[in-house]
Amino acid sequence: MSDTVHQVPSRLLDSSKCPKPHIDSFEKYKKIYEESIKDPQAFWGKQAKELLHWHKPFETVLTGGLEHGDVAWFREGELNASYNCIDRHALANPDKVAIIHEADEPGNSRRITYGELLHEVSRLANTLKSLGLKKGDTVAIYMPMIPEAAVAFLACARLGLVHSVVFAGFSSEALRSRIIDASSKLVITADEGRRGGKTIHTKKIVDVALEGCSTVEHVLVFRRTGSEVPFSAPRDLWWHEELEKHRPYCPPEIVNAEDPLFLLYTSGSTGKPKGVVHATAGYLLGAAITFKYTFDYQENDVYGCMADIGWITGHTYIIYGPLLNGATTVLFESTPVYPTASRYWEVVAQHKITQLYTAPTAIRLLRRFGNDYVKGHDLSSLRIIGSVGEPINPEAWEWYYEVVGRKECSVVDTYWQTETGSIVLTPLPGATPMKPGSATFPFFGIEPAVLEAETGKELEGNDVEGVLVIKNPWPSMARTVYNNHHRYMDTYLNVYKGYYFTGDGVGRDHDGFYWIRGRVDDVISVSGHRLSTAEIESALISHQSVAEAAVIGVHDDLTGQCVHAFCTLKPDQGGTDVSELVLQVRKVIGPFAAPKKIYISSDLPKTRSGKIMRRVLRKIVSGETNQLGDLSTLADPSIIPVLIDIVQKS
Ligand code: WTA
Repeated sequence: MSDTVHQVPSRLLDSSKCPKPHIDSFEKYKKIYEESIKDPQAFWGKQAKELLHWHKPFETVLTGGLEHGDVAWFREGELNASYNCIDRHALANPDKVAIIHEADEPGNSRRITYGELLHEVSRLANTLKSLGLKKGDTVAIYMPMIPEAAVAFLACARLGLVHSVVFAGFSSEALRSRIIDASSKLVITADEGRRGGKTIHTKKIVDVALEGCSTVEHVLVFRRTGSEVPFSAPRDLWWHEELEKHRPYCPPEIVNAEDPLFLLYTSGSTGKPKGVVHATAGYLLGAAITFKYTFDYQENDVYGCMADIGWITGHTYIIYGPLLNGATTVLFESTPVYPTASRYWEVVAQHKITQLYTAPTAIRLLRRFGNDYVKGHDLSSLRIIGSVGEPINPEAWEWYYEVVGRKECSVVDTYWQTETGSIVLTPLPGATPMKPGSATFPFFGIEPAVLEAETGKELEGNDVEGVLVIKNPWPSMARTVYNNHHRYMDTYLNVYKGYYFTGDGVGRDHDGFYWIRGRVDDVISVSGHRLSTAEIESALISHQSVAEAAVIGVHDDLTGQCVHAFCTLKPDQGGTDVSELVLQVRKVIGPFAAPKKIYISSDLPKTRSGKIMRRVLRKIVSGETNQLGDLSTLADPSIIPVLIDIVQKS
């Protein structure tokens, strides 16, 4: 643990240079935090009234708890998510820019006001209604990073439809299994996508996904590039032809606070992804309040989150959080290095971005390209620069702080998960001293604890290491796993009874700062993309030649972790090429899950009961062959030197 402490940059607290932060001292943070923990009902009740518009007020703040997994917030309340994100602002300030789209090719940006957003969302909602979709139906969204993706989210929300967004880097097979699991009736997509100068054949991928998929009645296709794409009427419908038929106002469908807003698939310890379900009011409140305080949102800010809308970060911090606050949010279609490694900085300068939110993998990549790409761009609009998705190493943090932030910006290292819905550990920009690599302290209303992994005993005080849990329910926590509440209980709430289990290791240092150590389960993170080793293993085993597979996450300087796989082949499959196996993973999951290395071996290290000892494989790959640990349960020790040899020769 590094002990470097950076105080809040004085510029942020100087009212001649920056707007006054909402929380401008650590004492203020502590006071509000303590109140939020002492009386959560009073705290969240007040925030819910202030930050959301209710069509019918709630009477009860919270019922249920972590013990039984029956948490419900604001249960009598009724509201609509799209009304909260759009109408309130469109009524007060229709010409304010809601979304700035920064297209893949530089110089092509588009600005959409709150007034225009209301029109587009209404037209789409009326289209969806005319297709017979009703409250509670699920809709799959498989879209590139274009404003119409946000329009699709919000049109679903307007009608109480449950969106299930699938990251557009997933393969046909991965998309199909998500469509089937959620019984989605409609898929919203685009003809093609563009990213980093390349074309992504979005519609073709959807077509393959829908082979043998009976729930889907229609595919609504937005024309992004205009290239010829396969189109099969009457199933397929063009977005521009349908929307034109409908009026630009659609009354919002008022839903209950606990009605689902969306589901989002995420990887866990087993091969099958889980559809994490978020409830409308609690999720919106979490998104609104964390956006306001973590990014210290102020009226004239231009906020840019570089994530993809297909992941939770895109849901909460490109769309819902900013729009709930009436902010201007940048939707970035490209990559940090297209056409050059200056792209982020050009975008910041052009749009005068005040808060930039990205991932450690991008920061490390840009750091490697060198400071010349940053210099010469006017970054003086930036006040707050954020990081999310994986632990950020102190060297990358310092580079971000010094070179990008010129020591004049607060760095917010925000820790959270798909399941938490919104940020749970983070510094507040005007208040919290920063330690590079630490997500510092809990957000309001979040009571973290460190448990001893084996016993579940709560470790009190400072200077402790263990697993991270949360002690009390918070509004934006996931309510269930779609059609699988039992799995929800087993994954999050039954591991340590009475606590929410994050799956992450953590340290709390002598000053009480939290340091996330990474996953303690079989989840790995490649460039901040969350992958399950079991999911990659089952993709490999689905190849005709593969008998067994063991996947491990290996440290990688750029991507945080990368995937290595060990496979044994079926008899007579010795000629199988490794590249074929890589292709198999790309086909079943998507290119971003492709193993960096695959080792073919005659056997894997297994216990006598047949369990693969991945721990041993990890040590062999990292070169720690003299620290293999206890091998007494190994069925056939002679495999160890064979594996060491294979890895060394590769
Ligand atoms: C990891 C992404 C360290 C963590 C929002 C978590 C982090 C998983 C941080 C969730 C951070 C996220 N520091 N680790 N600031 N943020 N993680 O569901 O392991 O894609 O459990 O949500 O990312 O990934 P997910």
